[in-house]
Parts: sequence; structure tokens; C-alpha cells
Amino acid sequence: MAQAQAPGQGGTVVPPDPWDPLVRISHWAIAAAVIANYLLTKPGGIWHVWIGWAVLALLGIRLIWGIIGTAEARFSAFPPNPRAAVRHLFDLFGGRAREHPSHNPAAAIMVYALWACLATVTATGLVMTGAKSPVTIAEEKAAVAAGDWSVLVKPDGEGENEGDDNERGLGKAAGEVHEVAANLMVVLALLHVAGVAVESRALGRNLVRPMILGRRRRR
Ligand code: HEM
Ligand code: HEM
Repeated sequence: MAQAQAPGQGGTVVPPDPWDPLVRISHWAIAAAVIANYLLTKPGGIWHVWIGWAVLALLGIRLIWGIIGTAEARFSAFPPNPRAAVRHLFDLFGGRAREHPSHNPAAAIMVYALWACLATVTATGLVMTGAKSPVTIAEEKAAVAAGDWSVLVKPDGEGENEGDDNERGLGKAAGEVHEVAANLMVVLALLHVAGVAVESRALGRNLVRPMILGRRRRR
């Protein structure tokens, strides 16, 4: 649970240092991966899929850490509470910002929304690629490039049938959800960065610093 505030140098009360290495590394790796997959990689290309799988692994590890991790990283330290989030925003814009041991209630809602988008994007990515590993996809692409199309034929030799149509329909729907969730996530990430800037200004300290160094500046 929330750590008590500790006395700093000169007797001033300073908040605890909140972010352990797992939170920090997973945060920046996920942020870099989202930017790479949104802006740099070829959609559906092998790098895109590799990075997507890395995101899935990072998200899985971070969510397990939310149950067994350090006090501030646990879900119990930042429960989703829309009423508290609205109250927090009124306080923030009313000049009554205050410290929280983990994510503040508004940030908490944003964090859960970003995680939900990440989960949706990776799950639909897996549906579109038939959950084939990036290694298998690379091998199939190499075989097709070399003129061997047999890798794309189903092992049981099924022809066109209703099952194939359903599969195609599911793939198409997954692609649409993938695109919408990816776009929504990027909008939320921009709002998230704006929120970090506003909150940093209101609290008079840089919130990005502890997310990089794990420490808050001692006052
Ligand atoms: C951080 C995670 C990801 C982001 C931000 C992301 C983003 C995107 C975007 C913006 C598109 C283009 C959508 C369009 O305009 O139609 C796309 C397409 C695609 N993505 Fe992802 N994606 C991610 C993860 C994944 C994963 C995990 C997989 C597969 C395991 C995947 C497979 C695909 C495929 C197959 C396409 C369709 C390409 C096509 O239409 O030919 N993506 N992705
Ligand atoms: C696509 C880009 C990004 C995504 C998806 C993202 C997502 C997240 C998530 C999920 C968390 C919660 C971390 C956890 O508890 O494990 C978080 C926290 C945080 N992020 Fe990001 N982030 C992104 C970009 C950025 C950038 C560019 C910055 C810096 C300007 C930033 C600064 C922070 C900070 C300071 C926190 C902690 C907020 C607090 O004190 O409550 N993020 N972010």
C-alpha cells in the first residue's frame, strides 16, 4: 500500500520514491515500441510483429507486477475510481494539487485506459496473424519470396468454404479494431503526456524525472 511520507534533508517532508526499475523499464520500452509500431515499422511487417510481441510480453509482466510488485506498482495503490479522478481534476485546476504515493486518481484512469488499448491492439494483432510467431511469419515470407507458395496452403488441403469466409471476416474485423485501438491509444498517450506536464507544473516538480531515475529531487 501507500508508503508514508519521509522526512527529507532539513526536516522538509518529501514524498517517497515511487517507481521501481521494472515499472520504469517497462514504461519506456512500451512507449518506444508504440511509437515505433505507429510511426516507423511497416504495418503487419516482421519488425511490427516482433515489436508487438515484445509489447505483449512487457504488458504481461507489468500486469503480474501489479499483483505481486512493489507497493506503488500494485493495482491496489491506484484503483480505478472515476469520482476520485473528477475530484482530482477539480482540485488540480482549482490550484489545490497534492502529492499521491502512486498514480493520482486521474492518472490511474488513464493508465488503465492505455493498458486496455495495448491489450486490444496486441490481441487483434494476434488474430490477424493467426497467432503465428514472428519466426514462422519470417520463414513463410522467405519461402514465398523464393517462389514456394505451398507454405500458405492449409495442411488439410481445404478449399474455399464457409470456414475460410468466416476466418477472413474475423481477420477483417480484427484489422479494423486494431486500427481504431492504435489510433485511440496514440490520442490517449498525447493526453497522458499533456497531463504529466500540467501535473508537474501544479506540483512544482518534474514527474518525468522519477520515471527515468526512480528518484524525486530532494528539496
Ligand atoms: C504497440 C502495438 C501495436 C501498434 C501501435 C500497432 C499499430 C498498427 C497500425 C497503426 C496499423 C495500420 C492499420 C491500418 O491503417 O490499417 C497496424 C496494422 C497491422 N498490425 Fe499492428 N500494431 C501493434 C501491434 C501489433 C501486433 C502485436 C501484431 C501481430 C502480432 C500486429 C499486426 C498487424 C497487422 C497484421 C497489420 C495489418 C497490416 C495490413 O493491413 O496489411 N500489430 N498496426
Ligand atoms: C506511447 C507513449 C506512452 C505510453 C503508451 C505511456 C503509458 C504509460 C503507462 C501505462 C504508465 C503507467 C506506468 C506503470 O504504472 O507501469 C505511464 C506513466 C507515466 N508516463 Fe507514460 N506513456 C507514454 C509516453 C510517455 C512520455 C513521452 C512521457 C514523458 C513526457 C511519459 C511520462 C510518464 C510519467 C511521468 C508517468 C508516471 C505518471 C505519474 O506520476 O503518475 N509517458 N505511462
